[in-house]
Amino acid sequence: MNPGVIVAIVVASILALILIFLISIILYASKLNKLGNRKFCESSRQLNGITAIITGGNNGIGKETALDFAQRGAKVILACRNLANAETVKQELIKLSENDDIRVVKLDLSDLKSVRECAREILSTEDHLDIIVNNAGAAFGPSITKDKFHYIFGINYVGHFLLNYLLLELIVKSNYGRIVSVSSMMYSRAKTLDFTPRDQSDIRYPFLKTYETSKLAMILHMRHLSRLLREYRINTYSLHPGMVDTGIFQGMEDNHNALLVAIFECVKRFTAIDCKTGAQTQIHCAVDEEAGNETGLYYDNCEVTELQTTISKDENMARKLWEESCRMVSVGLLPPCLQTFS
Ligand SMILES: *[C@@H]1O[C@H](CO)[C@@H](O)[C@H](O)[C@H]1NC(C)=O
Repeated sequence: MNPGVIVAIVVASILALILIFLISIILYASKLNKLGNRKFCESSRQLNGITAIITGGNNGIGKETALDFAQRGAKVILACRNLANAETVKQELIKLSENDDIRVVKLDLSDLKSVRECAREILSTEDHLDIIVNNAGAAFGPSITKDKFHYIFGINYVGHFLLNYLLLELIVKSNYGRIVSVSSMMYSRAKTLDFTPRDQSDIRYPFLKTYETSKLAMILHMRHLSRLLREYRINTYSLHPGMVDTGIFQGMEDNHNALLVAIFECVKRFTAIDCKTGAQTQIHCAVDEEAGNETGLYYDNCEVTELQTTISKDENMARKLWEESCRMVSVGLLPPCLQTFS
């Protein structure tokens, strides 16, 4: 055979294999992402008189959640790192919802000092708080936070842990009280819990592993909080929003190889859901009447979903994580507001 023909056949076979590989991933991801079967929050409940804070409420599914709450009549607090952008989004939301009860507070989850300042500002200016949505998240980024936590773990988990802890004082007085944490199905890949995934020296610390750990920690956090808060009738929820086309993977291009990025972009293009669809499960947890009878559970596609791993259901692990987290952020094992009631 002509060597040219052989080369052509080999190249064609390789291309065919790559194509089959990509199509398989896309089909698998579509199924995982429940394309064609996405549910929307069905509750038409109004939220007049309810105050909600949403971390990262200025973009992606956070922004869609803020818009939904505002349209239902809630007072919405956007807790954001980028104030200039948040102010622009605030104006946009006011226009879209015709609700001008929207405010912006500064929150940098990668800096515990900023978390404390944010909580202090809310405690001193709001007389009640009813919904907290732990929505902001990072999947890539610089390697460590100011307080020397791995950036991803610091933002997704530690910052939110402290914010929630400090805001309990206000939310325990609510007669609506719901705390919602945006986790991810990636939690199921974390089989152990490294309590302090830190990276003081190695920039190549596996970001994906830390991401998974942070999402598991968010689930355990909500499970433990559900027990602490049951007698106050405050509910907690954790959820997988679906694979959404958001900016959470920004920065990946800088750190990782081109092939991985190309595959990821391709799969994302065919299988990701838009932000409005991706916001539905957290909206469901925060407003749905039936969900108001549930606490400590995990949701996917607006439905209670069984947790897949032993560690994610381990109550002892949840308690240990709580205690370890209190040490990480230097607070007492029980917030004073819970001590006085119990
Ligand atoms: C919540 O639970 C109570 C008590 O079991 C029940 O009466 C009520 O109908 C439930 N509400 C919803 C919306 O499911």
